[in-house]
Amino acid sequence: MDAYEAITTTRAIRRYRDEPIPEADLNRILFAATRAPSGSNRQPFRFLVLRHGPAALEARQVLAGCFAALWGAKRAGDGYDTGSGTDPTSPKARMAATMQHFVDHIADASAIVLACTRARHGGVLHDGASVYPACQNLLLAARALGYGGVMTNWHQSEAARLAEICGIPDDVTIAAVIPLGRPVGHHGPVRRRPLPDLVYEDRWEASAPWAVDPPGTRFTGGPPAP
Ligand SMILES: Cc1cc2nc3c(=O)[nH]c(=O)nc-3n(C[C@H](O)[C@H](O)[C@H](O)COP(=O)(O)O)c2cc1C
Repeated sequence: MDAYEAITTTRAIRRYRDEPIPEADLNRILFAATRAPSGSNRQPFRFLVLRHGPAALEARQVLAGCFAALWGAKRAGDGYDTGSGTDPTSPKARMAATMQHFVDHIADASAIVLACTRARHGGVLHDGASVYPACQNLLLAARALGYGGVMTNWHQSEAARLAEICGIPDDVTIAAVIPLGRPVGHHGPVRRRPLPDLVYEDRWEASAPWAVDPPGTRFTGGPPAP
């Protein structure tokens, strides 16, 4: 798979087959993650992989609890079960079903990667900018090897508990939790807003004549309407 295809087809994968990820593949995925750039090449990112060790089993249960709580609140708050969500075939209801399945099974994901960073207090934007490229490298490498995953941040209410279980030091932040596995569904072209909505030239919101989507591109404006 070439890099361009991987970039344009790496979807958030939230359903995984019940298959372990061989260590050789984990090695390649994490090697790719750690090739990411960071400010001054400081490499503040660290990846703690949860498989089936004692700490991992405990951390998986904690993640199951906080993911369910976060999704439950979002489901109610964003009205996933009202309006078009009452029709089980609607995009909103299908999204809700996918998310429910995701949080119900997060503890069983083949591997869960805690993407961590030693924050330098350079500000959220600066610190994040030295760990999230590595997260995307990880997802792209996983996709190239036939796996899938999703970046999440629903662990935050239990970050201290996870740190305690896994021995994560005080100056380290869990920037993202990334479950990985063989996808049940498929990767495929990701949908975004039309290119002219996202790319300007010369002045803010001034269109760039060359910024056009390839033929056949499908779009989305964001999450399903409430
Ligand atoms: C910073 C960031 C945080 C995210 N947090 C979550 C999350 O907590 N839970 C989740 O299910 N997905 C999360 N996602 C995944 C996005 O929802 C997903 O990438 C987006 O909807 C686009 O979907 P697609 O990649 O399949 O096109 C996050 C993605 C990013 C980049």
